[in-house]
Amino acid sequence: MSETIRNIMRLFPLGIVVVTTKWSDNLVGMTVNTFNSLSLNPPLVMFTADKTKGNDVPFIESNGFIVNFVDDEKIFNTFAFKPIKERFKEAKFFEGLDGIPVLADSYAYMEVKKYKTIDIGDHTIVVGEVINGKIVRDNFSPLVYYNRNYWKLCR
Ligand SMILES: Cc1cc2nc3c(=O)[nH]c(=O)nc-3n(C[C@H](O)[C@H](O)[C@H](O)COP(=O)(O)O)c2cc1C
Repeated sequence: MSETIRNIMRLFPLGIVVVTTKWSDNLVGMTVNTFNSLSLNPPLVMFTADKTKGNDVPFIESNGFIVNFVDDEKIFNTFAFKPIKERFKEAKFFEGLDGIPVLADSYAYMEVKKYKTIDIGDHTIVVGEVINGKIVRDNFSPLVYYNRNYWKLCR
């Protein structure tokens, strides 16, 4: 059934962001296509992290994270495929909430305090409360992830 879910989900366009955190002085960041808003009151957002890869551990063990809204395929690939230690050498960043890195190329970002983590199946749902959000620039062209590729929007 997991193959069936994969084969159908690849035909469903999803938004993508990079979530970052600081985990006992290590800078952590990963590309996710499971980010979504969850509640407006309180202001909650969420993503899911793969337990089988240990992707959830830094987000369970730290107090918050940053959601980086990025429109650059290269950055998404860096934060999905490059070794963890190389990721922040390639991407420019500055410090946000609790010293968590904010990717400087983001067109918007949210500073988020951990609210709850939910252990479910082979993933952990990471829920956070948005403390601050900023639109950095107006000229951006968001990408969506569809059929194992990044696509630009047009109409
Ligand atoms: C488009 C895309 C979406 C992804 N979405 C998620 C996700 O929602 N949750 C997750 O745990 N990993 C996701 N990943 C994989 C993580 O980015 C990757 O496992 C993480 O950066 C750690 O890298 P590593 O597996 O090489 O250690 C995604 C990867 C790609 C390319």
